[in-house]
Amino acid sequence: MNQEFVVTPYVVSGEVDYDVLIERFGTKRIDEDLLARIAKYGPLHHMLRRQVFYSHRDLEWVLDEYEKGNGFSLYTGRGPSGPIHLGHIMPWIFSKYLQDTFRATLWFQLTDDEKFMFYDHLSLEDTKRWGYDNALDIIALGFDPKLTNIFLDTEYIKTMYPTAIKAAKKINFSTIRAVFGFDNSNNIGSIFFTSIQTVPCFLESMERKKKVACLIPCGIDQDPHFRITRDIAEGLGYYKPALIHAKLMPSLGGSEKMSTSASADATIFTTDDKKTVKRKVMNAFTGGRVSVEEQRKLGGNPEICSVHAYNMFLFEPDDDKLAKLYSDCKSGKILCGECKQLLLDKVWKYLEEHQRKREKAKDVIEDFFVRD
Ligand code: TRP
Repeated sequence: MNQEFVVTPYVVSGEVDYDVLIERFGTKRIDEDLLARIAKYGPLHHMLRRQVFYSHRDLEWVLDEYEKGNGFSLYTGRGPSGPIHLGHIMPWIFSKYLQDTFRATLWFQLTDDEKFMFYDHLSLEDTKRWGYDNALDIIALGFDPKLTNIFLDTEYIKTMYPTAIKAAKKINFSTIRAVFGFDNSNNIGSIFFTSIQTVPCFLESMERKKKVACLIPCGIDQDPHFRITRDIAEGLGYYKPALIHAKLMPSLGGSEKMSTSASADATIFTTDDKKTVKRKVMNAFTGGRVSVEEQRKLGGNPEICSVHAYNMFLFEPDDDKLAKLYSDCKSGKILCGECKQLLLDKVWKYLEEHQRKREKAKDVIEDFFVRD
């Protein structure tokens, strides 16, 4: 088995084995019993049915809190370093499902400070501007303005700072070095930053002046931050945050994390026009054979196909239809061109609507932002 891959919030490399990652990180798999429990609150999201969200920490406890009537808050975030692509919105769509299902308040952190400190090419003005741009995509997903607080770190720092330094005082440099793989060349802001990502776990408790559970839906690459948070939370007088982890959505170029820095055509941005989306989908990496004859005879390989992955993660929520696409591929009944066209139709239909909602979000952005 391949053990060579690396997953931290700052580096994802190699072929990620998600089962090995559960062991390395010490998280728990979302098993059938837990799925059955979640299904009591409403239809299971396809990302749960398909183990896109597949791992957790203390999710049972959060549901206990909910059942006792204590409720819980949701917390997720985005590092605003550039435009939003489909890999970014995937966990946010799931966050909205959680908000709808549990009527929970969502704290959405935009880490303009983080991206400024970690990227030489970005100024603080740049990351702030991206923050406001990215917020349009977040709002377009349909979060409830009454239950959603979006904030830029630099605009909410008065509220967060006292808790951030209380957290910072409990975290050693040696821990940061080991968890994030930093060394002496990292700037000191990046070393401090995890204490800023910690605070939103407690914002609901701070606001309500009593301990409230917090559930963080996020890509599993963000787990290291919250492992640190969990170690110090009780010492600060709060509950440990609970987590629900997603696998990273592959790019159209193959299986690595869908990244803005990978080949430009391997990612679909939410603001791409129809022609661009068409070019990207039609050039996607698939599990097809070298010739039509071979594929008719031997079938394709959906396991390695990015078109199949897109259907699985986002664009074919109907399990029966997904299973049919899968078996038609394996049997050679459907060829890659046709499959790409089907995906293109779904992606464009989705994006056209998203772009309309994104425009409308400009009128209501102030209903979502909190500042101090
Ligand atoms: N650090 C994350 C990033 O670079 C952004 C982030 C902040 C986040 N808080 C979060 C992501 C909570 C998930 C959950 O993208």
